[in-house]
Amino acid sequence: MDRLSAERTAGRPLKVMTIFGTRPEAIKMAPLVQELERRPEFDCHCCVTAQHRQMLDGVLEIFHLKPQFDLNIMEQKQTLSMITSKCLLGLERVFAQIRPDLVLVHGDTSTTFAGALAAFYQKISIGHVEAGLRTYDKYSPFPEEMNRAMVGRLADLHFCPTEANRRNLAHEGITDGVYVTGNTVIDALRTTVKKDYTFATQALNHIDYAQKKVILVTCHRRENYGKPMEEIMSALRELALKYPDEVELIYPVHLSPVVQEVAHRHLDGLPNAHLIAPLMADEMHNLMDRSYLVMTDSGGLQEEAPALGKPVLVLRQETERPEAVAAGTAKLAGVHKEQILELAEELIESLPAYQEMAHAVNPYGDGQACRRIAEAILYHFGRRQWPPEPFHASC
Ligand code: UD1
Ligand code: UDP
Repeated sequence: MDRLSAERTAGRPLKVMTIFGTRPEAIKMAPLVQELERRPEFDCHCCVTAQHRQMLDGVLEIFHLKPQFDLNIMEQKQTLSMITSKCLLGLERVFAQIRPDLVLVHGDTSTTFAGALAAFYQKISIGHVEAGLRTYDKYSPFPEEMNRAMVGRLADLHFCPTEANRRNLAHEGITDGVYVTGNTVIDALRTTVKKDYTFATQALNHIDYAQKKVILVTCHRRENYGKPMEEIMSALRELALKYPDEVELIYPVHLSPVVQEVAHRHLDGLPNAHLIAPLMADEMHNLMDRSYLVMTDSGGLQEEAPALGKPVLVLRQETERPEAVAAGTAKLAGVHKEQILELAEELIESLPAYQEMAHAVNPYGDGQACRRIAEAILYHFGRRQWPPEPFHASC
């Protein structure tokens, strides 16, 4: 508990501002915004940077979020410096209007880093949701590894999804204000996945999920731009060609022009490779629930698929989310065509190999992360006697 913070804010609701800007941050912050808003102890404010525009707006719509501030910073193909500087200047103006007791940022994006830095410049307390994930490779994921580590240095409260994340922070000497909460993405997933779900995207209602092996694909990471992404797309093309009747690739393509170009160049024209627009979060989660296999370089998908019992081939050389690999439901497939193909072919052709990976595990959360975060904040500000119980993975 922080006595100074408790004294400064005594007798009134805590003014908490959530800041986010991209699709994954929004999906993972949405249930937390809802949790804080339903508690009278909080005076909630929400600011989006709109580092993403369309991909963010879809999430705001699904979760009925109405931010008070929208910095609207997105420009096509903007550089990291452009994102960071526009967020910093915009947030300075927001903080001049509303001075929160606590700012909450999420994860590892440029919005996250700039949000924490802008709050630090104003000496506003910072809570970091999804803290402590590390690869310890400065350039991979790029720039996310350093964004997350730098926010770790700036933050006052650290909400680690897993015990391993807490240990990473402890190795860096960060032990105060650390809580193991589970990942809020599992809270979100519990509200979106439904067995009788009907897709708004009509084509998804017409796929024979029982007879076909539906492979859900996403790929967007900056460190995969160039040769790695060429190899990944080339492997996907070969898979589609090798199993024309058995496999359907469904690939909602990220709006980044770099990704769009390479994905369409390799995969257009194949009858069983469906390149579609980014899906709304509920569509995506339900499609994942009906898929056979997930091939992705996404952080969020690596966390969601194990909870739904779907094997994941991670299209990266490393991962800051090793828990699913340890639980046996994800494999690091790397970024070389031959290795990706070998692993995917095994899961398509061998039922025992598939069954070994296809069991539901929850290493990342139990759907209670938002409650724990809210309770940890109340504890920090002296409004609760005890910290929340830590999340323990059941696998
Ligand atoms: C960003 C995050 C990454 C996260 C990813 C989630 C950083 C540095 N990267 O990467 O950690 O995994 O979001 O998807 O913060 N675009 C649109 N419309 C949109 C969104 C993007 O047109 O709604 C296009 C724009 O041209 C934009 C480009 O995609 O410039 C790249 O977006 P940006 O946020 O810079 O990087 P991401 O690769 O999306
Ligand atoms: N997602 C989505 N629609 C899509 C692709 C992904 O709603 O077309 C969701 C996905 O289920 C997960 C999050 O977006 O919750 C992951 O975002 P992304 O892969 O862009 O970023 P990362 O998690 O790698 O940072």
